[in-house]
Amino acid sequence: MKTSYTQVVETMTNNSVAIEKLNNSAIVIFGVTGDLTHRKLIPAIYELIQAKRIPSDLFIIGFARRDWSDEKLKDVFFDAISEYSTSELREEDFSNVFSNVRYVKSNFDDISGYQQLETILEETNINNVLYYLATPPDSYETIIEKLGESNLNSNQKGWTRIVIEKPYGRNLETAKQLEKLVHNVFEEKQIYRIDHYLGKETVQNILVLRFANGIFEPLWNRQYVDHVQVTVAETNGVGTRAGYYESAGVVRDMFQNHIMQLVALTAMEAPVAFSADCVRDEKVKVFRSLRPYDQDAVNINTFRAQYASGYIKSERVKGYKDEAGVAPDSTTETYLAALMYIENWRWSGVPFFVRSGKRLPVRMTEIAIHFKQVPLPLFNWQNMAGEAPNVLVLRLQPDEGIHLTFGAKMPGPVNEIAPVEMDFDYETSFHQKTPEAYVRLIQDALYGDATLFTRSDEVIAQWAYTDRLIEGWNAAKTKYLPVYEAGTWGPQGADLFIQSSGRKWHNPDLH
Ligand code: BG6
Repeated sequence: MKTSYTQVVETMTNNSVAIEKLNNSAIVIFGVTGDLTHRKLIPAIYELIQAKRIPSDLFIIGFARRDWSDEKLKDVFFDAISEYSTSELREEDFSNVFSNVRYVKSNFDDISGYQQLETILEETNINNVLYYLATPPDSYETIIEKLGESNLNSNQKGWTRIVIEKPYGRNLETAKQLEKLVHNVFEEKQIYRIDHYLGKETVQNILVLRFANGIFEPLWNRQYVDHVQVTVAETNGVGTRAGYYESAGVVRDMFQNHIMQLVALTAMEAPVAFSADCVRDEKVKVFRSLRPYDQDAVNINTFRAQYASGYIKSERVKGYKDEAGVAPDSTTETYLAALMYIENWRWSGVPFFVRSGKRLPVRMTEIAIHFKQVPLPLFNWQNMAGEAPNVLVLRLQPDEGIHLTFGAKMPGPVNEIAPVEMDFDYETSFHQKTPEAYVRLIQDALYGDATLFTRSDEVIAQWAYTDRLIEGWNAAKTKYLPVYEAGTWGPQGADLFIQSSGRKWHNPDLH
């Protein structure tokens, strides 16, 4: 058995080898003036440099339309780190780490911008380039085409990769078109499609819990699991993103990507190895095993709703239709519940209830595995009626941890049983906050590890399933959606949706 010292030395050696491989590397951020760069990418890059996981002389080249300069970009990065980084920002550290910042001012369809970029890459002797598309999705095609036209899609000296943010297409057809276009310019091994949920520490822990422990996996199947619930609840409303959200809804914003990924990680078989292809092979199999619904079945097995005004943390908030940019007769769903079945040997017949909504009472993401009841009610239990007594909850955010609920005898002369919990809490056990998803994802893209990024066949399989839901709803020509008051767990229909199967939503007691 290895000593922990050996492990530490090995990690350090691997790390310095990885860093060495990143000498003369650049990240080129398209849409560098936008919100994503400001709030997520720059703080994450700073944290990686501070943690010595990537070299401090990494080149960061911004590409955008605004009339900015190298200096202005540096100032903006400084502000972004002061505001959003969890690491402390010291001025001298900043100038050491962000010494190589360049800005290319150009429209995305202007070939001269790409020529400028090429000149910078040559002059600075860059070997490896990571392009990051942090622009609105309607610019993806233009940027990818222009990178191809200017032969910036590969280089003789090192590697060239591209990171593409979601939404990856807006339905199966457009996703396939985008795939075709991207594959005309880049090879699959160069493409890193982001689903930022996969970068969350606790999401990765789903696989560790399942496959690094002997006690859970034997129970993880139709024999012992009654049903599974996946909840992604948000208190936020649509904010300033109505332009995008109106034509997306929860189904494109959360279901097609984050929720389906959580279902896949919960349901997949053990991969042959923890490598990009082996893990993704298993996830794709889950997507391919999902029971496809016809139009009628879609409308029976899903429930949609929209938030009306209400209170979030005692503050009055607007209803969806009153948000700026939302059509007064909008039928865009801000809440979705769906019942999914995975038709394979392990899960056949086990319902997977998933739900996600904006303006719910708490921000919370969890996966709850509800185990079957014991075969005989020996203790004449009256409590927990209708509910499986054992629930394993993987809390992905906030208060990251794992909780097991089981029945225990209440103290006293009578035979009464109460549900109690065994808890694991990340912060208590590891004395640190879980890092931001983008820290891990940017590191992995630079290291060339695509395990936590979605593969071409995966994203297409996700859209194939999601498209059927959207088509089913379109065929029903719904004019009004049920509404729920902001700050509640959805309308009554959402409860009835699961209650009709004899179960109920696992609503945590969070504040
Ligand atoms: C994004 C969605 O992908 O995920 C947003 O576009 C949503 O609408 C966000 O708010 C939720 O992410 P997180 O990490 O805050 O749970």
